[in-house]
Amino acid sequence: MKHQELSATAHALVAKNKGILAADESTSTIGKRFAGIKLDSTAENRRLYRELLFTTPGANDYISGVILYDETIRQSTKAGSSFAAYLSQHGMLPGIKVDTGAKPLAGFAGETITEGLDGLRERLAEYGKLGAKFAKWRAVIDIGAGIPSAYAITANAEGLARYAALCQEAGIVPIVEPEVLMDGGHDLQRCEQVTGAVLDSVFTHLFAAGVYLEGIILKPNMVIPGKKCAQKASAEQVAEATLRCLKRHVPAAVPGIAFLSGGQSPTEATLHLSLMNAAGPLPWTLTFSYGRALQEPALLAWGGQSGAFTSGQQALFKRAKLNGLAAVGSYKTSMESTAA
Ligand code: 13P
Repeated sequence: MKHQELSATAHALVAKNKGILAADESTSTIGKRFAGIKLDSTAENRRLYRELLFTTPGANDYISGVILYDETIRQSTKAGSSFAAYLSQHGMLPGIKVDTGAKPLAGFAGETITEGLDGLRERLAEYGKLGAKFAKWRAVIDIGAGIPSAYAITANAEGLARYAALCQEAGIVPIVEPEVLMDGGHDLQRCEQVTGAVLDSVFTHLFAAGVYLEGIILKPNMVIPGKKCAQKASAEQVAEATLRCLKRHVPAAVPGIAFLSGGQSPTEATLHLSLMNAAGPLPWTLTFSYGRALQEPALLAWGGQSGAFTSGQQALFKRAKLNGLAAVGSYKTSMESTAA
């Protein structure tokens, strides 16, 4: 029974034309985003901004679920409905970020281990009561001189597997997010090699932990050259390398893969997703679970100004719609100027 429910939730998250809105920035991260528009990061401003996102008219045509942060899942709309209840009533599944962040990995300079396993069973039980149907845990792998180490990959993969098993025990679908960062100077080939090794380790550990693969969503990075790499890749090359890597390393039992945007521009993230979906039949559904690539234009259009609330919502709607089209391979860059 639990397996059936997990699989049904996972499939709902990757329903046709739909993807996930990642709005689970920690208080410190949203503070940085607000600093970019010179807005104070007060609890009320954070609540107001999340209300703008979640109540965007029509967003539920393209958004299947929203990842919330601990503070946000306890907040409500101005009209008094908890965000989790509001989202459920509007056909969007509420999710929750449950890791407590990537911390320095002792003995391995420049590498991190994601924390948050202690007390996770109890926190999941509480989040379940607050309405969460799925969860997210982000492991971070950086590429640089001599890194990632085999140990950092293994330790992070084990953390993801233990988290995923606890989520499924609680009837919550785990989003398994091993993010290979695009910050470095590495090229496309190196990203493909590291992403492949990371995915291999993640699935080895998920299998060892007895995780039910039909009841997870994988949230990987795309295979893309580092931002400081002189050799740029075309959108077609990114799509091709990403698909090759995923086909080699992700079992067909996984119902859906929902990419993070990781620092790609909103239009790049949409184009890459669409090219992959246009490439032919795939063993899993490919969609988006974007944070910045969905929110950046909305945050800028709003700018913290009460008179620009609707402009912010329109900007989010446009990105949600175009990514919804990309999720079925029907996006064209020419739509950027015409989409409402
Ligand atoms: P980005 O799309 O901004 O990378 O965020 C997605 C996310 O949830 C990172 O954990």
